[in-house]
Amino acid sequence: MNSKKITVAGIRAMKTCGEKIAALTAYDFPMAKLLDEAGVPLLLVGDSLGMVVLGYPDTTHVTMAEMEHHVRAAARAKPNALLGGDLPFKSYETISEAVASAKRLTVAGADFVKAEGGREILPQVKAIISTGIPFCGHLGMLPQHVLEEGGYHIKGKKDAEHQALLADAKALAEAGAFAIVLELVTAPVAKEISQNISVPTIGIGSGPDCDGQILVTQDLIGAFPWFTPRFVKPRANCAAEIKAAVAGWKNSFVLPPK
Ligand code: KIV
Repeated sequence: MNSKKITVAGIRAMKTCGEKIAALTAYDFPMAKLLDEAGVPLLLVGDSLGMVVLGYPDTTHVTMAEMEHHVRAAARAKPNALLGGDLPFKSYETISEAVASAKRLTVAGADFVKAEGGREILPQVKAIISTGIPFCGHLGMLPQHVLEEGGYHIKGKKDAEHQALLADAKALAEAGAFAIVLELVTAPVAKEISQNISVPTIGIGSGPDCDGQILVTQDLIGAFPWFTPRFVKPRANCAAEIKAAVAGWKNSFVLPPK
């Protein structure tokens, strides 16, 4: 038993203590190990891996087998961080599918699962939690709905959206979700939600007042230079570093053409 392992209760306690929660995505062994060694308490094998690792145009192409493969890889790092896995597109349409999918990710090594949606997936959420699998909600802009929504839009600007987000967050928290990701929610609405639920909110592009922040690691370290969301300020330029290292090595022995 690893006494340093971060627990769901530990993540919840951070909100109570007013300690901000840092969360990042990790899709494989080395990244999970590095981020864990850097002291990040919450890691997510997000289905964003579809774009930044697998080269798909969006997350709707990611399969359960791909999620299991990457959860297994990240879990081999045996992080102290709590490690989550995203339930992929169409893997939680019914209660029995949701429970079976959540079990598959925990067997692969996830400490918790995350799925997109609010009251419309509440029966699935309750069923997952009733099996003892910790659940993290995801509200706001839902990337798995990109095709029907025709893009990635900020949520919470209209009053109806604002009220629906608040009601969804309350419903997920009451159902037992231990945390809720708020993606591209307007900053005032994200703040209001954070102040009105007992479980931590983890924001991505949702302003500074969430209880924690999550980013796609490739965006943070400049490792996916072909697209960077507007709200991310990369802290490194890994793509340039890789190219410079490769060019330096190549130029050390490949003679320029005459
Ligand atoms: O898929 C993902 O990486 C996510 C986070 C960015 C919240 O859902």
